[in-house]
Amino acid sequence: MQWLAVPPFQMSLAAEEAHVRSKLTNDWEHGVNFAIEATDVGDEPVLIGNAELRLISPVARLGDLGIAIGNPEYWSRGYGEDVVRTICRYGFEDLDLHRIGLTAAGHNARATRAYKKVGFVVEGSMRESRYVSGRYYDTTVMGLLRSEFESGEPQQGRAGSGGGA
Ligand SMILES: CC(C)(COP(=O)(O)OP(=O)(O)OC[C@H]1O[C@@H](n2cnc3c(N)ncnc32)[C@H](O)[C@@H]1OP(=O)(O)O)[C@@H](O)C(=O)NCCC(=O)NCCS
Repeated sequence: MQWLAVPPFQMSLAAEEAHVRSKLTNDWEHGVNFAIEATDVGDEPVLIGNAELRLISPVARLGDLGIAIGNPEYWSRGYGEDVVRTICRYGFEDLDLHRIGLTAAGHNARATRAYKKVGFVVEGSMRESRYVSGRYYDTTVMGLLRSEFESGEPQQGRAGSGGGA
């Protein structure tokens, strides 16, 4: 709850409550939801965010990934890459998914960098498709195929230059 609706995500209290309630069920309709805990910062795990794998179709075996580390103190310390990689492994190896996709704000360079480190490829940009506080922003579309993940070779990962962010 604590880190669910932090900027740039803007939600009314009612929308946030409905969002949280929808997360109480893990199945093909609602997806699978995870809490993110840092376990290397003290004696007790610290809740730093949440992530989800929205399952689009059990027939096509497609998923969509979402992640938010709400506490900025924990940004750019490798947690995002670790979480994304772990969820992708779960999606491909345990759920037998074929593809995991995601979208990010086009200007969210930290996010796209974290995804590229796992092997996600920029597939395109939806221009001015986000409306936040009176301004329009591009949305970057990224995807990762199971074959790419299993090859262990980030397609445009660490060395990648793929545009959009
Ligand atoms: C996006 C998010 C999940 C990434 O997690 P993270 O733990 O910060 O990511 P990592 O530390 O694994 O990787 C971040 C990378 O971006 C780099 N980075 C940070 N700021 C950057 C910037 N302004 N431009 C380019 N790269 C940047 C970091 O140096 C790091 O790369 P490196 O490991 O090669 O040095 C996390 O920052 C977050 O939740 N942010 C707020 C919510 C959000 O944006 N969610 C994503 C919505 S799509």
